Amino acid sequence: MTRKILVTSALPYANGSIHLGHLVEYIQTDIWVRFQKMRGADCYYVCADDTHGTPIMLRAQQEGISPETLIARVHEEHLRDFTGFHVAFDSYYSTNSAENRELSQQIYLRLKDAGLIAVRTIEQMYDPEREMFLPDRFIRGECPKCHAQNQYGDSCEVCGSAYAPTELINPVSAVSGSAPIRKQSEHYFFKLGACDSFLKSWTRAGHLQDEAANKMAEWLQAGLQDWDISRDAPYFGFEIPDAPGKYFYVWLDAPIGYMAAFAHLAEQRKLDFDAFWKPEAQTELYHFIGKDILYFHALFWPAMLRFSGYRTPTAIFAHGFLTVNGQKMSKSRGTFITAENYLRHLDPEYLRYYFAAKLTPHAEDLDLNLEDFMQRVNSDLVGKYVNIASRAAGFLTKRFAGRIGTLRGEDSLLLVESLQKAAPQIAEHYEQRAYGKAVREIMAAADRVNAYVDAQKPWELAKDPSHADALHEVASTAIQVFRLLTLFLKPCLPHLAQAVETFLRIPPLAWSDAAELLSPGHIIGEYQHLMVRVEPQQIAALLAASADSLKSAEAPAPHSQARHGQAQQHATQPLQPTVGIEDFNKIDLRVARIVAAEAVAGADKLLKLTLDIGSEQRTVFAGIKASYTPEDLVGRLTLMVANLAARKMRFGESQGMVLAASDGAGPFLLTPDPGARPGMRVK
Ligand code: MSP
Ligand code: ZN
Repeated sequence: MTRKILVTSALPYANGSIHLGHLVEYIQTDIWVRFQKMRGADCYYVCADDTHGTPIMLRAQQEGISPETLIARVHEEHLRDFTGFHVAFDSYYSTNSAENRELSQQIYLRLKDAGLIAVRTIEQMYDPEREMFLPDRFIRGECPKCHAQNQYGDSCEVCGSAYAPTELINPVSAVSGSAPIRKQSEHYFFKLGACDSFLKSWTRAGHLQDEAANKMAEWLQAGLQDWDISRDAPYFGFEIPDAPGKYFYVWLDAPIGYMAAFAHLAEQRKLDFDAFWKPEAQTELYHFIGKDILYFHALFWPAMLRFSGYRTPTAIFAHGFLTVNGQKMSKSRGTFITAENYLRHLDPEYLRYYFAAKLTPHAEDLDLNLEDFMQRVNSDLVGKYVNIASRAAGFLTKRFAGRIGTLRGEDSLLLVESLQKAAPQIAEHYEQRAYGKAVREIMAAADRVNAYVDAQKPWELAKDPSHADALHEVASTAIQVFRLLTLFLKPCLPHLAQAVETFLRIPPLAWSDAAELLSPGHIIGEYQHLMVRVEPQQIAALLAASADSLKSAEAPAPHSQARHGQAQQHATQPLQPTVGIEDFNKIDLRVARIVAAEAVAGADKLLKLTLDIGSEQRTVFAGIKASYTPEDLVGRLTLMVANLAARKMRFGESQGMVLAASDGAGPFLLTPDPGARPGMRVK
C-alpha cells in the first residue's frame, strides 16, 4: 500500500531573515521528503510563516507599516530563500489565514468543552505609556544578582541567572522607555496538568527520540504547569471567542498552522483533510523541529490534538543547533550568515551536501567548519563524484556516438552489482534520517568506481584502436554507475540530479530505478560541467559580506518570542526607541579618572570605583569584575553618567554609572581618546 505522509518543518517567525541555522532544519526535512517522494509515497511537505505576537506587531510599528504588510513582505523573502536552497514545499502558507483562525477557535472551544480551560487573574508588567502588557524580553533593567545594567526581564546575559521581570532593579519598558507598573488582568489557561497521564504514556510510546523522551520524563516528573494561552490587546493575533480584548498567544495558533497549511493544500489539490487529521487516520504525520521547541511539540501540541478530537503526530524529529567554526553564529565574527548572503556567493547544493554529510537522527549540534566544508565539497562532490562523469563521458560521445555499450567483463558487472546492492541500505539510512551514514556509503561506492576506472585506465585503452571494445565497456560502466550514484544523491542534490538526467537523457530518477540500468544502445547527451570547486575567495567574500551586512542591517526586531526553559540565542540587542536631542542632553556624561578600585566582599561581579570628575569624587559600584582586575584600572580614564540618581545598594551608595559595552561578551569599559581630562562633558 502506498504510504501517505504529511511532513512539516517548524514555522519560521515572520520578523527575521532565514539564516544557515534555520536551513539545517529545512534542508534536513526537504531531503527526507524528496526521498519519500522518490520511493513513491504520497508525501506532502507543508510549512508557513509564524506571523503573530508582540515582536511582529512592534516591528511593524517601528517600520511604520501594518503587520499585514510586514508579514506579506517577509513571506515573499522567506519563500525566495527556501526556493533558492531547493527546499520544495507543497504549500508554504501563513498562520494569519482564515483556515488557521477557524481551526484555532474550534480547537480552543473543544478544549473548553472538555473542561481544560481555566481563567485566572494574574499580575504582569505593564507599560503605562504604550498601554500594553510587556513580554519579559521587552523589559530591561539592572540584574538583581550581579547588577549588570540593561538586562532582559527574564535572564541576565552577564551572570546567566534567571529571574522574574518584577525582580529587575529600575526596570524600563524597551518599547517606550517608561517605567513599567504592575497590573492585573484575566488570563486563559490550558490545563496541561489534567493531561498528565495521557502525556506520560504518549511520550513513551515511540513518538520521540530517546533523548527527547527522557527530557520529557524530567519535565513530567517536575509536574506540569497550566499553560497561559491568552494575551491582552494590543496584540497581533486571533481574538479568543467570547473574550473580547483577549487574543490567543502566538504559540497556541502556531502549531495549528500546520493543519491550516495542509487544509489550504487539501483545498487546492482535492485531498482528504480528515484522512490526515482524524483520530483514526491511517496516514503518517511527522514534525521536524529544533530541540529548542521540543516542549511545545512534545507536550502542548499532542495534548491539544488529543483532547480536541484530532490525531496525534506519528513522530517528532528534533535536531540540534548549528555552530559555525565551532562557535555560536556571531554577527561580529561575520558568521551570522543569512540564506540570501550565502546564495550570492556559493552554490546551495554545497551546503545541502555538507549538512547531509553531518546529519544524524539525534538532536546533537552540528558544526559548519568552513575549511572542512570546502575540503569536503571539493574532494567528495567534485573530486570523486562529478569526476566520474567528466572522465567517462568524453570517450563515449567522441568515440561511440554517446551509445551505451553492453557490459560483459566481470569487473564491470561486479562493480555495477555492488552499487545496486547498496541501494536498500542507503534507503534505510535516509528513512532513519542517518544522512551522514547514507553519504558515507555513497562516497564509499564512488571510491570503488574511481578505483575501477584507475585500474582499467581508459586513457591508455584510448590510445590503441584495437582496444575499442574494452574502452567502450569501461566508459559505459562508469556512466552506468554514475547514474546510480546520482540516484542515491538525488534527495540531497536535486538540482544536480536534474542536470544529470538531462545529460543522460532519462526521465526523473525514482528509487526503484536503482534496480534497472541504462539499456545498451541508449544514447546519452553531451557532457556539460556539472559542478565547480569551492574557492577560498568565495568563503572569504561571504564572511566579509556577512560582517558588512551587520553594519547596514535594519534595526533587528526586538527578538523572537521567549522559549520554554531554553537559553535564547541573541546575536544583537534590540535598538531602543528614538529619543530627541533634548532627552539626550538631560544625561550629564563626564570624563572620569578612576582613582581607586576594589573588589566588593559578597558580590561576584561588582567593583567599587572611586571616580574623579574634576569638581568632586564619586563612588560607583560597577558590574565589571568579570573583565577587569582592580589594580589595572587605577589611573585610567573612563566615562560616567554623573547625574544618575544615587542608589542605595547592599554595599553602599552608588553615585552614578560608568559606561561599558557588552552583548554577553565583555563588559568593555569605554575610554576617551588621549587629551581628555577628568570633568569634561561628553556630548
Ligand atoms: N516560530 C517558531 C516555531 C513555531 S512551530 C509551530 C520558531 N521559529 S524560528 O524562526 O525561531 O525557528 C524556526 C526553526 O528553526 C526552529 O525549529 C528552530 O529550532 C530552528 N533554528 C533556528 N535557529 C537555528 C540554529 N541556529 N540551528 C538549528 N536550527 C535553528 O521557533
Ligand atoms: Zn546578572
